[in-house]
Amino acid sequence: ATELTGRHLLKELDLTPGEFRSLIALAAELKAARRAGTEQRRLVGRNIALIFEKSSTRTRCAFEVAASEQGAATTYLDPSASHVGYKESAKDTARVLGRMFDAIQYRGSAQHTVEELAAHAGVPVYNGLTDDWHPTQMLADVLTMTEHSAKPLERIAYAYLGDARNNMGNSYLVTGALLGMDVRIVAPRALWPEEKVIARARALAERTGARITLTEEVAEGVAGADFVATDVWVSMGEPVQAWEQRIGMLTPYAVTMHVLRATGNPDVRFLHCLPAFHDLGTQVGRELHEQYGLDSLEVTDEVFESEHSVVFDQAENRMHTIKALMVATLG
Ligand code: CP
Ligand code: NVA
Repeated sequence: ATELTGRHLLKELDLTPGEFRSLIALAAELKAARRAGTEQRRLVGRNIALIFEKSSTRTRCAFEVAASEQGAATTYLDPSASHVGYKESAKDTARVLGRMFDAIQYRGSAQHTVEELAAHAGVPVYNGLTDDWHPTQMLADVLTMTEHSAKPLERIAYAYLGDARNNMGNSYLVTGALLGMDVRIVAPRALWPEEKVIARARALAERTGARITLTEEVAEGVAGADFVATDVWVSMGEPVQAWEQRIGMLTPYAVTMHVLRATGNPDVRFLHCLPAFHDLGTQVGRELHEQYGLDSLEVTDEVFESEHSVVFDQAENRMHTIKALMVATLG
């Protein structure tokens, strides 16, 4: 993947279909080498800055473990313990960190912040989630789909249910369009991706042969799907008051066993980027249970814990794909 040397990953559309596929292939290679105990350290002596303006479990750990296994070091910066965002602009932060680090990961709200970092850092910048896109998650999801399907990517169909007017909805839509896949966005119209995102996906699909469906009908949307995916109904940075309206709008789009059966595919697999509200095992889950009487939200515990669920393979694959991204852009 030498063509990726020195490149940023700010959104999926920064990659050509070939580049996206080469990252997946490299991730699979690195994963196999790690298992075989033959992994080569290709990032020895490198330093990666990790800026997190929002919480993270998987993304942070994936970057830290991947870097460590490849011989690189990481520095974690959060807004409360650094000047990022408050006292120092993204432009100045980029120029400082670019003098010390070989790459910068940024997670936060505004897409323009990660674009601004990339414009001024002089080193690769990776988007570890913004309100608009979650491209490193898509690398993991596509690797997971290739592992759990015998089909070539362009014959795989996936349906994303729930809040599609968020980073995951946008990312699933454009990633499927980019890779020539069969993508279904299944959500109430008010929670579909913005029109300009849909238009970009449709234009891309013309070139790649992707099939794109946006529908409010669950049965139609999931029919024949190889994968059913969902995400939390209220994303980081959204007000807690959003829950009431989202629960009202999205309860018919919760992933239940009934929804999986509606695919007509006994081997259908369930995807979730996590964290997920599938039981009462979290503080927020218990609060929502008290308020609305629900035991789960976007996915039932039955689905989450079933043999259909590949969510922990997906979580593990964050590490292998992020490692591939760093190796390809810095190696
Ligand atoms: N899926 C994901 O990005 O997880 P974290 O928020 O824990 O990084
Ligand atoms: N849409 C979610 C994804 C979390 C990984 C959020 O932004 O909170």
